[in-house]
Amino acid sequence: APTTSSPRTARAVRVVAHRGASHEHPEHTIGAYRQAIADGADALECDVRLSADGRLVCVHDRTVERTSDGRGVVSELTYEELAAFDFGGWKGAEHRGARVLLFEDLLKEALAADRPVGLAVETKHPTRSGGRLEAELVRVLKEYGLADGSDGRVEVMSFSRNALTRLHRLAPGLPAVYLMERRLRAPRPPFAGHAGPGIDLVRRDPGLVGRLRAKGLRVRVWTVDEPEDVELCVRLGVETIITNRPRAVREQLGAQ
Ligand code: G3P
Ligand code: CA
Repeated sequence: APTTSSPRTARAVRVVAHRGASHEHPEHTIGAYRQAIADGADALECDVRLSADGRLVCVHDRTVERTSDGRGVVSELTYEELAAFDFGGWKGAEHRGARVLLFEDLLKEALAADRPVGLAVETKHPTRSGGRLEAELVRVLKEYGLADGSDGRVEVMSFSRNALTRLHRLAPGLPAVYLMERRLRAPRPPFAGHAGPGIDLVRRDPGLVGRLRAKGLRVRVWTVDEPEDVELCVRLGVETIITNRPRAVREQLGAQ
């Protein structure tokens, strides 16, 4: 692994916008993703869950309380019920009126951009859905011709190895990222060819990145918002940075 940063390696790092440009905008809203595209993000990260009526929606938490004016568990609410809530006002009055985002609408937004913009899709708590979440995700991706991974636009991520294994069976061409929050078992290629340690893990144990790379895994780190953490990731040879602040990170990488 490279031990020093250089302008070439810094600029080559991919920048993935975590929940959109979510430092300034309400996470997972169309406004946050439009801003991320305008900010130069290479790809958009989103968490997906199934609504009670089987629609794939972009929501991080199990419940809607933190990010909307509604109440309840996402998987117990229909899309129509979710769509009645305001998902923007909690971030500031100027964001009022933002609605829950269907994964399919995010996909359309990425495809409509005037340059290739990727999607890094994280399945949330897929074990509770008995495989329906992965099946619905792959169904939607197939509808748009994106499930075979040939154009490199979509990658899937999960903290669950079972979920990645299921996704790999349904869509073996999709790059799969095993997310690591604590020191867990290493991902197993080919079910996961990428490892995604959190920045806390990398700060505590910077050698982890090199060890993962030595296993042939590509490494992405989340959620990297501080300049010194960006610098650390570049120095360690991290390929992809996931950040709430895509514009600031893009600017820092360009300046290095
Ligand atoms: O990109 C990975 C990261 O999003 C995982 O953590 O809690 O933000 O979904 P979380
Ligand atoms: Ca996530």
